[in-house]
Amino acid sequence: MSTDPPTLYGVGLGPGDPELVTRRAEEVIRSVPVVMVPFVGASSRAARVVRELDPEAVIVGYPAPMTRDEREREKAYREAARIAEELLEEHGRVAVCNLGDITLYSTFWHLVDRLRLDVRVSLVPGVPAGLLCAARVERPLVMGDERLLVCTREPPERLLDGVGAVILYKPTERGIRLLLERGFRVYLCRSLGFPEEEVRRVREPERPGYLCTVIALREGEG
Ligand SMILES: C[S@@+](CC[C@H](N)C(=O)[O-])C[C@H]1O[C@@H](n2cnc3c(N)ncnc32)[C@H](O)[C@@H]1O
Repeated sequence: MSTDPPTLYGVGLGPGDPELVTRRAEEVIRSVPVVMVPFVGASSRAARVVRELDPEAVIVGYPAPMTRDEREREKAYREAARIAEELLEEHGRVAVCNLGDITLYSTFWHLVDRLRLDVRVSLVPGVPAGLLCAARVERPLVMGDERLLVCTREPPERLLDGVGAVILYKPTERGIRLLLERGFRVYLCRSLGFPEEEVRRVREPERPGYLCTVIALREGEG
């Protein structure tokens, strides 16, 4: 009998378009007995992508709350880890699929950090949403020695000096205002890769909805 620890795959699905899923990610999804995906409220974009890749996939959801309440988040992450442990003990191989790349702001890590089981973690990178934003805008993010800032919500003001471009995940209205005030060209990208995708230039601060990423480029380029 094998004594190898069970394998937990962390799979980056890309932003949503199944054509932007890597071959490696698809291979893992098709080969594991069960796939875990985060559920935000009652729905899961990741589940939509997995289902398109493999209609037969056994998909189990885990809670991924949008709240900033620490207690509620901790409860959800522990529950996610508990579900993963149960599935790993039963099946030996489980894939957790998150949108974009798995090393960028992914709920996968909250789950991994709370596992009490000895597991082997194997990562499959994916196309980050911010890079699909840049492709949609059809401009380079940075060239030569320019610097790229990747952050969430609001860019720290002191870091904006000398930055060529910003990728802002989970953007806030304040974050958009700051970028406009600092002279960036700002684009709001919503639900990239899904049928409801929207990409547009933003000239006034606004409250972005769900699944939005902002990219900001130095004014004057392109
Ligand atoms: C938990 S983070 C995950 C980031 C992801 N791991 C990545 O590499 O792009 C969730 C944020 O990613 C961004 N995001 C993920 N998928 C997206 C999509 N299809 N369209 C636009 N933004 C997306 C949004 O900013 C969203 O609030």
